[in-house]
Amino acid sequence: MDEKLRNLIFVHAKKWVLEAGEEIRQSMYGDLSIETKSSPDDLVTSLDKQTERFLVHNIRESFPTHFILGEEGYGDDIESLEGTTWIIDPIDGTMNFVHQKKNFSISVGIYHDGQGEIGLVYDVMNDVLYQAKRGNGAYRNNELLPPLKKSLLLEESLVSMNHYWLCPNALVDVNKMQQFVKKVRGSRTIGSAALELAYLAEGSTDGYLSLSLMPWDIAAGMVLVQEVGGTVTNIKGHPLSLLGKDSLLACNKTIQRDIFPYLQK
Ligand code: 2AM
Ligand code: CA
Repeated sequence: MDEKLRNLIFVHAKKWVLEAGEEIRQSMYGDLSIETKSSPDDLVTSLDKQTERFLVHNIRESFPTHFILGEEGYGDDIESLEGTTWIIDPIDGTMNFVHQKKNFSISVGIYHDGQGEIGLVYDVMNDVLYQAKRGNGAYRNNELLPPLKKSLLLEESLVSMNHYWLCPNALVDVNKMQQFVKKVRGSRTIGSAALELAYLAEGSTDGYLSLSLMPWDIAAGMVLVQEVGGTVTNIKGHPLSLLGKDSLLACNKTIQRDIFPYLQK
């Protein structure tokens, strides 16, 4: 992608994400409609929808040839990542938004012909914007994030994951996951995949593991993690397609090698 165009897109995207965050902070204590989607733990609020509509409206007005893949469905039905595609989660961590009024983010990843060009993850309540352009490093607000630590033992690692790993599931051996939880220094659950990837990028955690995520949960965070030298694959080590659901392992390359044996069924 042309550098000048990418910078223009970046400036617009950043402005809209910050404006959307401001609107969320202003409206979140008012009347919100809260609905469930596929199950009682799959929530959507009127602000998820309003925020996605705001972002989609602005993108369509300024960049009419771009495609949009959004969690709440106001974007396009896309079958490939050819051209420029905005992958949007208006509120990632909706359950946290509803229950905690914190620990949620706006996630916007911008891809060109399948390659991550821009990643923005906005921690709305802390007013922290994690931002990256491919090849230019990742930033926490205006502070450049250093590369991830190169050598790290699992015994010294703090890993983000949720508790579904410890329930019988089709992907992994629960006994091995119990050993894994004992092996690492600690495990944490944040509840917003985009924030979990941002925390990995800033070095607050050393890995993030998930059994099932959608493209909008991870598209922006992947750009952040890649910019600090981390790796993001599914739990088999295969690249993620960003067109459907997949598992995820994000971390530095050394601990990736050490984690894989625990993920074999
Ligand atoms: P959401 O808040 O946008 O729904 C929580 O561990 C993380 O997983 C959040 O990023 C959440 O995104 C995502 N998530 C929740 N339910 C999911 C599902 N059924 N499939 C994929 N991702 C999900
Ligand atoms: Ca969401």
